[in-house]
Amino acid sequence: MKARGDVHLHFFLILTYAMRMKRILGIETSCDDTGVGVIEAHDDGSVVVRSNVIATQDHRSTGGVVPERAARRHADAIMSTIEKALAEAGVTLNDMDAIAVTYGPGLAPCLLVGVETARTLAVATGIPVYATHHMHAHIASTFVEHPHVEFPAVVLLASGGHTLLVHMPSRSEYRLLGGTRDDAAGEAFDKIAKMLGLAYPGGPEIARVAEDGNPRAYRFPRPMSADGSFDFSFAGLKTAVLYQVQKLEPLTAQTRADIAASAQEAIVDVLARKAQAAVEHVAARSLILGGGVSANHALRERLREVAIHTGAQLLVPSPGLFTDNGVMIAVCAAPRALRDERSDVEHMRISPVLPTA
Ligand code: KG4
Ligand code: ZN
Repeated sequence: MKARGDVHLHFFLILTYAMRMKRILGIETSCDDTGVGVIEAHDDGSVVVRSNVIATQDHRSTGGVVPERAARRHADAIMSTIEKALAEAGVTLNDMDAIAVTYGPGLAPCLLVGVETARTLAVATGIPVYATHHMHAHIASTFVEHPHVEFPAVVLLASGGHTLLVHMPSRSEYRLLGGTRDDAAGEAFDKIAKMLGLAYPGGPEIARVAEDGNPRAYRFPRPMSADGSFDFSFAGLKTAVLYQVQKLEPLTAQTRADIAASAQEAIVDVLARKAQAAVEHVAARSLILGGGVSANHALRERLREVAIHTGAQLLVPSPGLFTDNGVMIAVCAAPRALRDERSDVEHMRISPVLPTA
């Protein structure tokens, strides 16, 4: 009888070990989206997204993000966004095994809202907290759909704040290959959109208007595209577009579409050429695309060609996870949560300028 009980106990332990799972609440407030997500992370690397709620701020009146204003909006939205994410997941805060929060890089007043909210909830409930790197989280958003990525991988992260090429020898190693010297790719989209009188954020607007334009109408510069480095620069391109706009003003719908298409083509061309060079440089088996700009169809088309040419597999985050969101924060913290490598809740600090690798 005793022996049989032992066998049962043994079996039970194996079963619970095999089914180890953590419910994680992810909170993102680094820029202008208040994002909260609930996931179930399993120790085989698989993830089930239970909810993904994003309260997006409207910056049309200011044409861009004003940090203090954005922080006030986060403060207004954060609790209701958390409640909504929990309700959509059909859980309560006490069902959570972990709280993950972005601590950097990002806008200091905005990061503070997320970190202080997470700290308050963690202290009140005793749930462990995991301070999470925003850029690593963008990379992690790909692991929802692709839990078994083949390494080495190259990551192209192109957002409103960053343009980076990262070499990942394994899932937990990040080596920076290069980054932008001036504007980020998303920022270039946003600023060029502004020159064309389009709304903020400019990336989706440029992409929409470019559909009716000729990408070869204007030959805009491809700065640093053939210099052998993995760095980017978009300032020269931006200036070239500005001169072209000033020369043609007032713009017709067609010239605006042609400029949008040609500028998009120039940005995509530089990103794709550098990504291809990076894949070849490290003999990458996967090419991971992340950041808000990865929503761009022209970019994805070009990277698909790069993937075919190099033999690397192109991995793109699931829809809804390209831009800033809470799910990616939770997914990024999952391996640490499963190993119980929690952050020190008392001493958790924001880090607005955080190195990427
Ligand atoms: O990752 P993200 O949501 O926030 C940051 O961390 O910056 O990226 C936002 C950026 C904005 O600059 C926006 O214009 C750009 O991503 N973006 C796009 C597209 N959708 C968003 N850029 C080009 N094409 C798009 N379809
Ligand atoms: Zn981001």
